[in-house]
Amino acid sequence: MDNNTPNSSSDAEVASEAFMGMGTLDFIIIGVIALGTVWYFFLRKQKKEDEPIRTYSIQPTTVTTAVSSDNSFIKKLKASGRSLVVFYGSQTGTAEEFAGRLAKEGIRYQMKGMVADPEECDMEELLQLKNIEKSLAVFCLATYGEGDPTDNAMEFYEWITNGDVDMSGLNYAVFGLGNKTYEHYNKVAIYVDKRLEELGANRVFEAGMGDDDANIEDDFITWKDRFWPAVCDHFGIEGSGEEVLMRQYRLLEQPDVQPDRIYKGEIARLHSMQNQRPPFDAKNPFLAPIRVNKELHKGGGRSCMHIELDIEGSKMRYDAGDHAALYPINDTYLVNKLGELCNAEMDTVFSLINTDTDSSKKHPFPCPTTYRTALTHYLEITAIPRTHILKELAEYCSDDKDKEFLREMASITPEGKKKYQKWIQDACRNIVHILEDVKSCKPPIDHVCELLPRLQPRYYSISSSAKLHPTNVHITAVLVQYETPTGRINNGVATTYLKNKTVEGEEPPRVPVFIRKSQFRLPNKPEIPVIMVGPGTGLAPFRGFIQERQFLRDEGKTVGDTVLYFGCRKRSQDFIYQEELEKYVQSGVLNLKTAFSRDQAEKEYVSHLLEKDEDLIWDILGERKGHFYICGDAKNMAVDVRNILVRIISKKGNMSETDAQQYLKKMETQKRYSADVWS
Ligand SMILES: Cc1cc2nc3c(=O)[nH]c(=O)nc-3n(C[C@H](O)[C@H](O)[C@H](O)COP(=O)(O)OP(=O)(O)OC[C@H]3O[C@@H](n4cnc5c(N)ncnc54)[C@H](O)[C@@H]3O)c2cc1C
Ligand SMILES: NC(=O)c1ccc[n+]([C@@H]2O[C@H](COP(=O)([O-])OP(=O)(O)OC[C@H]3O[C@@H](n4cnc5c(N)ncnc54)[C@H](OP(=O)(O)O)[C@@H]3O)[C@@H](O)[C@H]2O)c1
Ligand SMILES: Cc1cc2nc3c(=O)[nH]c(=O)nc-3n(C[C@H](O)[C@H](O)[C@H](O)COP(=O)(O)O)c2cc1C
Repeated sequence: MDNNTPNSSSDAEVASEAFMGMGTLDFIIIGVIALGTVWYFFLRKQKKEDEPIRTYSIQPTTVTTAVSSDNSFIKKLKASGRSLVVFYGSQTGTAEEFAGRLAKEGIRYQMKGMVADPEECDMEELLQLKNIEKSLAVFCLATYGEGDPTDNAMEFYEWITNGDVDMSGLNYAVFGLGNKTYEHYNKVAIYVDKRLEELGANRVFEAGMGDDDANIEDDFITWKDRFWPAVCDHFGIEGSGEEVLMRQYRLLEQPDVQPDRIYKGEIARLHSMQNQRPPFDAKNPFLAPIRVNKELHKGGGRSCMHIELDIEGSKMRYDAGDHAALYPINDTYLVNKLGELCNAEMDTVFSLINTDTDSSKKHPFPCPTTYRTALTHYLEITAIPRTHILKELAEYCSDDKDKEFLREMASITPEGKKKYQKWIQDACRNIVHILEDVKSCKPPIDHVCELLPRLQPRYYSISSSAKLHPTNVHITAVLVQYETPTGRINNGVATTYLKNKTVEGEEPPRVPVFIRKSQFRLPNKPEIPVIMVGPGTGLAPFRGFIQERQFLRDEGKTVGDTVLYFGCRKRSQDFIYQEELEKYVQSGVLNLKTAFSRDQAEKEYVSHLLEKDEDLIWDILGERKGHFYICGDAKNMAVDVRNILVRIISKKGNMSETDAQQYLKKMETQKRYSADVWS
């Protein structure tokens, strides 16, 4: 029986009899318990809600399937004769993957290593690490938002920031994961590297900087190629440097497992999709019915979807500016193709079990499961494989030429790197394409499952206001589809999944979602004027903002200027939500400025419009202390717009460029300048 099912009325009768026979002390005890319960469920939660929300919007999805009760990494190191510990600060798994690779490679240099999640460790034990001979702590740390650490590195970050501990004797190195298109490039890694030195620790090798906008894999392998010799030098190790390929997980086939114990796509809890229970979050998504899925483009060959997700009954709440996160599944054709290329029995039930028994991560994804489920729900099969995957695949080539080709691309030689760039990255080849084109390569499916990264949820800026649509979340998603240099068509995982979720018949399609809170917010006082810049799908959160401003106006509130800069290619094709926006203009709530980049010979962008409107911009920002928002492409548009804003502030505010930059930074800290950008 389900443990949560109330056990008939007899329970109530027994309880009532017991109640009648109680004395004063019983009531006092019950009172204390009741107060404790109220504190635990309400006040404690309240405190959590009051905690500052970080400025980035990616929830960690490296869901550990089992949590170790022992948080002493020192004990584990000592018990297993290891001297290297690699910590990771990761939201979407890259830093964790890099940490795993470094820990695994340690063995080549007589440094047996382990990977550790700082959130699960007693990090104060770093002070004891020096007691282990030739010990080293490496930190692979990603940066998010306005230079923030990831959730799992936050406590460690705060500890080293606020504490004044003596780290002398600690040997360390840092590798940062970031993206140059963001303003605070690799800020966390740079800070931690400097701070550990300030606290007296001993930097064994200079910090590496990975740029996800260029080729973070290249940055990483280039860095570690110099890092290992420096480590050997430092500790006087005569490293053989010989490659040792080792499996991290062992395969266990489980034909006899009861069908109801097999994971079928749940993110963490078994049966969580059939037996939906709040609270819903990254580990327990809500299966939201799709009520509307309609095309917004009127031509031009691309597709942009307006989707309405029903969250009634989920107890999930949102505000305009938050993100909806969606767990997609992979395309069935590709899943079957990959199975075929690996000669896999797709419905075999199996588990992958970590050979490192000290690791808190017992399985790479929920197990036991089938290969079909793993490839469909748990693994990123269309991601561009990193070099360590090619190195492992090479071992399964029966043709020596194929083996050599894969090995070369995985090497750090200039020719190898060039080939990897051209044949893998530029050609956008995923694992299926590689196995199709390197014909003699036949890896076992369980090893492929070990190597591929975990499928990540995709984030969408919510394009509605909860004031108008409390039980509906709208998203605006542009379909990712492109032809690769090999003539293949690559389809985006989540957007293709959504595209196929057509709303027909009585039963609406459902998709697993959760809400991620953000700090992208309208000012509390509606009379404060706002400027919003959102070309293309960058319009999404502003649709919610405008709905909200109209709602407040309808309630009789005074609403300040609401200026929107929107840009698209052609007025007749991809001017999304045109009719709605024009209605808002007519009602007087919106001042709409549009740039149609391809409707005339010369490109016109939102940035050009801003330049022309310098008086209006300065009046709103400089004179009336309004708010400025930007959403959409991080790589070009957001950078251009920011630069133009600096120019306007400098010119109209009579400031030097440096002062204008400072002015903008101050606006940022006052939450008067906010960006919701992605690349
Ligand atoms: C905070 C945040 C908010 C977001 N809000 C929105 C939103 O409101 N609307 C929206 O549409 N998207 C939004 N995104 C992007 C969204 O999360 C997904 O990344 C996007 O929908 C693609 O997902 P996918 O699974 O379909 O594609 P994937 O399977 O993830 O494929 C995308 C990848 O394909 C590659 N790629 C794409 N186009 C090309 C090309 N032409 N040539 C070569 N390679 C290419 C790139 O590597 C890209 O990362 C947001 C992202 C973030 C982080
Ligand atoms: N990672 C992903 O898979 C993914 C998925 C979806 C979107 N995105 C990102 O999100 C962005 C928005 O996508 P979208 O399809 O909605 O928009 P889009 O239609 O590609 O672009 C919207 C408008 O912005 C213009 N533009 C281009 N460069 C600009 C710049 N530097 N400054 C100002 N305007 C500029 C475009 O002009 P022209 O095109 O005529 O130059 C177009 O008119 C994309 O640029 C992309 O980077 C990424
Ligand atoms: C929404 C978002 C915000 C980001 N903000 C920053 C940033 O401020 N600075 C930076 O250097 N990189 C930033 N990045 C890039 C990530 O740090 C980078 O992609 C990294 O490889 C992610 O590592 P992870 O997969 O381990 O989380 C951001 C990425 C996203 C998606």
